[in-house]
Amino acid sequence: MSKTYNVAVIPGDGIGPEVVEQGLRVLERIAALEGFTARPTRFPFGAEHYLKTQEVLPDAAFEEIKGHDAILLGAIGDPRVQVGFLEFGIIARLRFGLDLYVNLRPVKLYAAHLCPLKDKTPEQVDFVVVRENTEDAYAGMYGFFKKGTPDEIATQEMLFTRKGTERVIRYAFELARRRGKDRKLTLVDKANAVRAMDLWTRTFEEVGREYPDITREHAYIDAATMWCVKNPEWFDTVVTSNMFGDILTDLAAMIQGGLGIAASGNIHPGRVSLFEPIHGSAPKHAGKGVANPIATIMAVQMMLDYLGEARGAQRIEEAVAGLLRSRKLPSLGSDSGLSTRQVGDLVLESLEQVKVTA
Ligand SMILES: NC(=O)c1ccc[n+]([C@@H]2O[C@H](COP(=O)([O-])OP(=O)(O)OC[C@H]3O[C@@H](n4cnc5c(N)ncnc54)[C@H](O)[C@@H]3O)[C@@H](O)[C@H]2O)c1
Repeated sequence: MSKTYNVAVIPGDGIGPEVVEQGLRVLERIAALEGFTARPTRFPFGAEHYLKTQEVLPDAAFEEIKGHDAILLGAIGDPRVQVGFLEFGIIARLRFGLDLYVNLRPVKLYAAHLCPLKDKTPEQVDFVVVRENTEDAYAGMYGFFKKGTPDEIATQEMLFTRKGTERVIRYAFELARRRGKDRKLTLVDKANAVRAMDLWTRTFEEVGREYPDITREHAYIDAATMWCVKNPEWFDTVVTSNMFGDILTDLAAMIQGGLGIAASGNIHPGRVSLFEPIHGSAPKHAGKGVANPIATIMAVQMMLDYLGEARGAQRIEEAVAGLLRSRKLPSLGSDSGLSTRQVGDLVLESLEQVKVTA
């Protein structure tokens, strides 16, 4: 009997609904080609819904979403609503509430001409960043004292727990082993200045002893950004904290071709997990049909891989890679000359043609 996957879909704001529509077309076609069933259920949360109803993400809906096999998110954020309010109320609520402790960010260049670095080839830009996704400064422990006065003090805690650090580091070692590329894991931190990160140093060493087949490397975040540009081929699997991962992965997105292709998984292994493009709602492009849907299509690719549909995932990856290599899809921005739907059409066409080995 064919498998059925129930997918909670939150198209969200701005270009979110446009790119998600293409992601769902690809999901539907892959399901038909690979013989499984995908049942998407759309949820209306985002700015429009909030402005109409004052609802952000009600508890009942949160519970309903939790009952799905996976979540696909477009983007959240709208200039009509206070900065960060919906992002925190929806994205952070799902990340923290579902304890999605791994933010997984593959950084893979599919065609050399998309890389802004001189002479870098796809073989040299192929690594994955495992970003801790539930702690650090993002835990929301902040405050103001004497706010609005010349003596104002503002604080925000960087919070790291042993359990939180250990589980994400362990995930990264397992991933380095599964990838089987250079069998190398690089810890990125700032333990020389942020002394609390000594917890990361010690945990990395301790957990690492259980993985003698994986080489352990280390880079401070400032140096890691430099290596990312100078020698991206030095990275295989990277593990880092929430804030440093947030910054490093946007830089990394640029060397793989830009926000138009970068996707991420917010994962708790074995539980409902969330997949999304890393870009935001790009309000200036909303409603114009010019947004590039490839990052969302790659989020669908990651979702299928997570769900165990390796063939379907490989099919999407090969189709997108082929379109980029052949320049049938000339760019990953809003300037490709193709509409959002036309890019979706191109991907659908090439899905049929690619060969899969998985
Ligand atoms: N996970 C999320 O939902 C998420 C992530 C980042 C930002 N945001 C929110 O999105 C809103 C806009 O944020 P921003 O402008 O800083 O970042 P953004 O990613 O929305 O857009 C930055 C620029 O990148 C380009 N771009 C991004 N995605 C594109 C696509 N698919 N096709 C073509 N061009 C694309 C556009 O030129 C855009 O102006 C804010 O409210 C922000 O908080 C949400």
